[in-house]
Amino acid sequence: MKYSPWSKDAALVVLATLREEEGPVLMALQALQKEFGYVHTESVGLVANFFNKSRADVHGVLTFYHDLRTSPQPENQISVCVAEACQSVGSRQLEKDVKARFGEEVHDGYCFGNCALGPAAMVNGKIIGRATLEKIEKARQ
Ligand code: FES
Repeated sequence: MKYSPWSKDAALVVLATLREEEGPVLMALQALQKEFGYVHTESVGLVANFFNKSRADVHGVLTFYHDLRTSPQPENQISVCVAEACQSVGSRQLEKDVKARFGEEVHDGYCFGNCALGPAAMVNGKIIGRATLEKIEKARQ
């Protein structure tokens, strides 16, 4: 997916589309991430000022939701489900192995709705059932 380069002016254009929304902080952070691929650190102050919220309110929302990113996305996004059903079939070991192989690209996931085919992983938005290191490596190519 191609994202726009972050700039304060471009971020304000995104925020302006949400001016009339109620409870806009989460929507604003999601919209900024959709536009730029992540939520730039300066966005906290911009969103707070734009919607007359405290920086703490915006920071709280930003850090509560794990899907919101504060740095640009890596080339590949890999998540290994570590919820209970997948843990019972070895996802913690798979997660360790995947992190050792791919490092920063790997994040914890919490149930992809694919519990019957655990351990589950997600590579660039595609769910992999009965995931193995080999299947994940093949999917990221
Ligand atoms: S617990 Fe892993 S996909 Fe549901």
